Amino acid sequence: MKKPRIDLKKYRKEFPFTHKRINYLNHASFGPIPLCSLKAKEEFNKYATLQKTGDTDKIWFALLDKTRKKQAKLINAKVEEIGFCFNTSFGLNFAVCGLDLRPNDKVLLSDVEFPANVYPWLSLKSKRVKIKFIPNKDRFFDIENFIKSIDSKTKVLSLSYIQFFNGFKNDLEIIGKICEKNDIFFVVDGIQGIGNLNLDVKKLKIDFLSCGGQKWLLSGDACGFFYYSKKAKRKLKPSFSGWMGVDWKTNFTDLLRYDLKPFPDARRFATGSYPFSSIMTMHSSLGLLLEIGIKNIEQHNRRLLDRLIEYLKDSPYKIRTDLNPKHRSSILSFSSKNTQKLYKKLTKKNIFVSYRERGIRVSPHFYNTEEEIEALIAVLKKSA
Ligand SMILES: Cc1ncc(COP(=O)(O)O)c(C=O)c1O
Repeated sequence: MKKPRIDLKKYRKEFPFTHKRINYLNHASFGPIPLCSLKAKEEFNKYATLQKTGDTDKIWFALLDKTRKKQAKLINAKVEEIGFCFNTSFGLNFAVCGLDLRPNDKVLLSDVEFPANVYPWLSLKSKRVKIKFIPNKDRFFDIENFIKSIDSKTKVLSLSYIQFFNGFKNDLEIIGKICEKNDIFFVVDGIQGIGNLNLDVKKLKIDFLSCGGQKWLLSGDACGFFYYSKKAKRKLKPSFSGWMGVDWKTNFTDLLRYDLKPFPDARRFATGSYPFSSIMTMHSSLGLLLEIGIKNIEQHNRRLLDRLIEYLKDSPYKIRTDLNPKHRSSILSFSSKNTQKLYKKLTKKNIFVSYRERGIRVSPHFYNTEEEIEALIAVLKKSA
């Protein structure tokens, strides 16, 4: 694999805790906000606090479009197909509530899915929609079992790009083709992959995707985005309506107009005022990620995890991630005889990972170094 071109010296400055012996390998849980994005967030708050003058409406509404363009770029979508949501669950609810599902229609879910992509669908039980869990194979989503679960009543598959606890990258290309062939609406939870892996919604035939910004997108709280395809545009009714879902052309002087039409694009899902300071944060962080390049990030993270795998393979620890390259991601999971004790020990030593489904989950990002992986390995060696 080619050595990725990331200027670590430059980018580590964005994360001041890296100079304080904090070894943060936990982006699958929560991503730190880079300094440049903290400054951007403060910029918005300064407007609010200091009441800077100027045409702020124009500034903040232009920010929305600029941010949607960046979100679209991450997944090869068009800007019209992108809208804001507060988190992954919020976006998924647009599909759950907007699809006109009827009694006995069937929604397929993985039985090893993060609950954000389960509870919203379970709410449809009150409409007598059937929710079926596809059995996993060795804790990984299984395409054969997916195919076996399809019948004439199957209307939706909702699945994560990357499985949250073991980093299994689903083969969305094959899955998307199966959905298209069987006229199944294909929903994807992108949060564990977008920002560290490329994803092409067109190639993968995804109908709807939702992604929170708090992890790999380093965007803090209250900001995410969703994508909706042409097919989704035909099928989905906005579940909410609001004054931000219609086109004021950034002119808020004549507000007693109740005859405005919804936006013709994904903005029609908007309700009220936007979380501008969070969007400001996201705009800046996406700029950083796109500047580095998602392909470079993928290669960098993979190299770091390759080193960890090299050690784990000949150790008493058990790797719980599928090592087939097509299923690899920026997440690796392993266990030991007493995984919880090991997790506590790592935390005490300022090595931050997650304890998930009885495994240690390691999830480095572009600014992590080989030295940080070696520091983790050193503790593992002593604890083996
Ligand atoms: C696969 C997956 N989906 C969703 C979430 C979070 O959902 P939300 O953004 O709605 O909090 C997580 C982790 O927190 C996750 O791992």
